[in-house]
Amino acid sequence: MEAKKLSHGGTFARNSSAVAGVVALLLGLSILVLPLSPLYPACNSQQIYVPAVTTPAAAGAAAPAAAPATAWLGAPSRAIPPNVTVMVFGGSTTFGRGVSDPDKKWVEEFKRAFERLTGSNVTLVNRGRGGTMADYFASCFSRYLNGQPTPTVFLLEFAINGGNVTRLVESMLRSSDAPVVLVRQMACYPAIRYSSATDLDARVSWPEQREEQRTAAYVYRLHEFDFVSHVVPEYGSPCSADSLPKLFEVHEAPGQHLGDLGQHLLGEFVASELVRNWDAVFDPTRRAATPQPPAFKETCFYADESGNSCAGEGAACSIENAFAPDGEGWAFVAKAAGRKDKICWQADKSGVRLTTVDPVEFFEATIYADFTDQNPSTMELFCGDQLLKEIQLKHGMRGSMVKAVTLPAACSGQKLTIVAKEAAPDKLLRVCGISMFS
Ligand SMILES: *[C@@H]1O[C@H](CO)[C@@H](O)[C@H](O)[C@H]1NC(C)=O
Ligand SMILES: *[C@@H]1O[C@H](CO)[C@@H](O)[C@H](O)[C@H]1NC(C)=O
Ligand SMILES: *[C@@H]1O[C@H](CO)[C@@H](O)[C@H](O)[C@H]1NC(C)=O
Repeated sequence: MEAKKLSHGGTFARNSSAVAGVVALLLGLSILVLPLSPLYPACNSQQIYVPAVTTPAAAGAAAPAAAPATAWLGAPSRAIPPNVTVMVFGGSTTFGRGVSDPDKKWVEEFKRAFERLTGSNVTLVNRGRGGTMADYFASCFSRYLNGQPTPTVFLLEFAINGGNVTRLVESMLRSSDAPVVLVRQMACYPAIRYSSATDLDARVSWPEQREEQRTAAYVYRLHEFDFVSHVVPEYGSPCSADSLPKLFEVHEAPGQHLGDLGQHLLGEFVASELVRNWDAVFDPTRRAATPQPPAFKETCFYADESGNSCAGEGAACSIENAFAPDGEGWAFVAKAAGRKDKICWQADKSGVRLTTVDPVEFFEATIYADFTDQNPSTMELFCGDQLLKEIQLKHGMRGSMVKAVTLPAACSGQKLTIVAKEAAPDKLLRVCGISMFS
C-alpha cells in the first residue's frame, strides 16, 4: 500500500496540505503536552489522547462554532457503528484484579472512554479470567460466541499470562469475522513470591509471555496497542520504586496487577487507540491479506456456566457424558470448591482410571485441568495402551487455576484413558474439558 501511494504523486500532492494541517495541529498539541512529559518521543505525538473536552477548539485553533463531542485527533473516516460489541479475553487484570472497585477495571474504563469519544454504545463481553493462558480460551472457542451478541471486535490481553496466543487467534479467525486487536500491558511481578519457593520452574519469564502475544501479532498481522510505550514517557520505568505504587496494586500482590490509576490509563489508552486505528483495524483488505488459519474439525467436550448443551454448530458437549469412570475414585463434581463455574471429573486417589465412552479421533488435542494449590497432582494420558503424555499440575498461585495442556500426539480409533498417577484428597486432580482436532 505504501509503495503504491508513493508512486501516485498526484494523490500525495492533493493530500499534502491536509497532512501539513495535521502536522501543525500535532505540533500545537505537543507543545501543550510537552511540559507534562518532557521525554515523550516525537514519533509518538500522534498517540496523544485528546479527551472530548479538549477538542482542537480548546487548543486555541479557529474552531467551528460547535465542535462535535467526538472531535478527535485523526478521527477515523469509516463510521463507527452506533452499537459496538467488544469481547475481551485475558487474565486477572482483565477480570478486574487490582482495582478498588469493579467499576474501575480497565475494560469498564475502556467502555466509558470509547462511548464518550464516539457517541456509540458499547456492549462489553468480558471473559477475563485469572491465572489462565491463551490456550485455555483457544479450544472449544465457539462456545464463547453462542448466545452472545455478535462481536464487532475482539481484544486480547495475554502479554502477562502468555500461552499460545497464535492458536487462540486462529480459533477466533475460524469462528468470526470480527478483527482481533492485542493489548500489551504489563506487570512488575516477582513471580517467586506467589509460587513455590523451591520450584525454580515456577518462575516464569515474563518477556517470554509477551513474546508469545507478539508472535500472534506478527503471524496474523494484528494491531497491538502498546500501553508500556505509552506510559514510559510520563512514568519512566513502570516498575521503578517511584512508579510502581502509582500504577499497580501494592497490598495483595505488589506489582502484579495494574491498580486504579494503571487500569484507568489502560482503558483510556485502548479506547483512544481503537478509535484512532478504527479504519485500519476494520480495513477489509487487511483481513483479506491475513493468512488463513488451518481448517480443523474440532470435537469439544466441555461444561461450564452455560450448561451442558451439545446441540448446534460448535456447541460443546458435556464432558460428563464423554467419560465413564472405571471403578471408584473419579467423580463428576458440580461446582467444585472455590469455583462457581466448574463442572469437572475429579480424582482424589492414585491409580484410578477415566476412559472415554467412545473411541476418539485426533491429531492434536487440548485437555483442561483444574488444580488448586501447591500440592502437585499428576495424570497420565493413554491412547489405548500407549502413553501419550504425563501431565503434572503445579504452579498454582492462590486459589484454583485452570491449565490447558496441549497433546501434540495423535489418537485414532482407540479410547482415551486418563490415569490419576498422583492424587489425594489434598491433591485433587480435575479434568474439566477436552478439545480434539481432526
Ligand atoms: C445507546 O443506547 C441508549 C440506551 O439504550 C439509546 O437511547 C441510544 O439511542 C443508543 N445510542 C445509539 C447511538 O444507538
Ligand atoms: C443500539 O442499541 C440501542 C439499545 O440497545 C437501540 O435502542 C438502538 O436502536 C440500537 N441502534 C442501532 C442502530 O442498532
Ligand atoms: C502455537 O499454535 C500454533 C497453531 O496451532 C502452532 O502452529 C504452533 O506450533 C504453536 N506454538 C507453540 C510454541 O506451541
